[in-house]
Amino acid sequence: MSESAPPVLPSDASLRPVQAAEGLAPGVVADWLNWGAAELVGHSDSARADAEMLLAARLVVDRSQLRLRHEDTIEVATVLRYASCIERRKGGEPVAYIVGRQGFWTLELAVDTAVLIPRADTETLVEWAISVLPKQLPIVGRATPADPTDSGGRGPPYVLDLGTGSGAIALAIASERLDARVTATDVSEASLDVARENARLNGVSNVEFLRASWFEGVRKSPLPPGEGWVRDSAETERSVAPESLTPSPSPGGRGETSALFDLIVSNPPYIAEGDEHLAALRYEPRLALTSGPDGLDAVREIIRDAAQHLNAGGWLLLEHGHDQGAAVRALLESAGFVKIETRKDFGNNDRVTGGQKP
Ligand SMILES: C[S@@+](CC[C@H](N)C(=O)[O-])C[C@H]1O[C@@H](n2cnc3c(N)ncnc32)[C@H](O)[C@@H]1O
Repeated sequence: MSESAPPVLPSDASLRPVQAAEGLAPGVVADWLNWGAAELVGHSDSARADAEMLLAARLVVDRSQLRLRHEDTIEVATVLRYASCIERRKGGEPVAYIVGRQGFWTLELAVDTAVLIPRADTETLVEWAISVLPKQLPIVGRATPADPTDSGGRGPPYVLDLGTGSGAIALAIASERLDARVTATDVSEASLDVARENARLNGVSNVEFLRASWFEGVRKSPLPPGEGWVRDSAETERSVAPESLTPSPSPGGRGETSALFDLIVSNPPYIAEGDEHLAALRYEPRLALTSGPDGLDAVREIIRDAAQHLNAGGWLLLEHGHDQGAAVRALLESAGFVKIETRKDFGNNDRVTGGQKP
């Protein structure tokens, strides 16, 4: 506790921030953190961390900087805004929506209620995705031809992220592989606006955004030999039909029978309609959460159509619910995929299943 006079804290836990205004006085960071954490007990499993994130956002510092500023005095106006954030959190709103930001992979992403808050468990999918991409060729020289992941001069890897939301998966992959050409789709234009903004905020330029319902509106093979898929900049700014994709020269030299993508990833909605967990997710868009009576409608549609868009040897990786691994493996097997495997998330739950097109 600081040695300065403690702030006058609202004694009534139910006091609304505006009502509390009269009683608030300038105080130091440490005191207001203690107050916020105490207010959130019983409303959040991470009361202290939430209070830190909310106060750090109000002070426009990160949490580590906040810890160095425990003795700093906070203006009443800032305290009032912080108290209002604490109140929202007590109502169940996720911290990410209150502060408008969420960390994912190495990126800081803007989020609002148009998009799902990216989850740390989705990094399992990103890690796997990066590992299956053909190795990036060194600028001088090449990997040995015996290396199975040598891209062998076939051009940049093409990646498709279906249902991109905030852009989390697409931007994480693109930021790790600057040579990749990533297409990120969503059926929600509001999501695409957030994803485009996140590309800009994170300085990622090798992703293009496309409004599409799963594969409808996503161009597939064949491409004429020696042509790639880059669109002109005017078209990149708006939702486009597949016909408006403009071929451009590519060093790739893909054959007439090849498909466009080397890797397709998706974290589709996968919760069953009526699932009891939906109540806790009421701030997130329903479009991002549910998919039919068993939650697998989107997964079925993606698996049904993916092979037509994948090159031979290309991978399809799908995030899913902890109890859906066996069902997704069976669907991939029926669709002819090989090397099918399920990987676990940080909580040791089945989370991502993938397979390779033979
Ligand atoms: C679970 S969220 C995943 C968001 C993001 N990829 C992530 O991992 O954080 C599912 C996303 O799929 C999108 N979506 C739902 N139905 C879709 C459809 N028919 N076609 C394309 N995207 C769809 C939603 O708008 C949402 O952004």
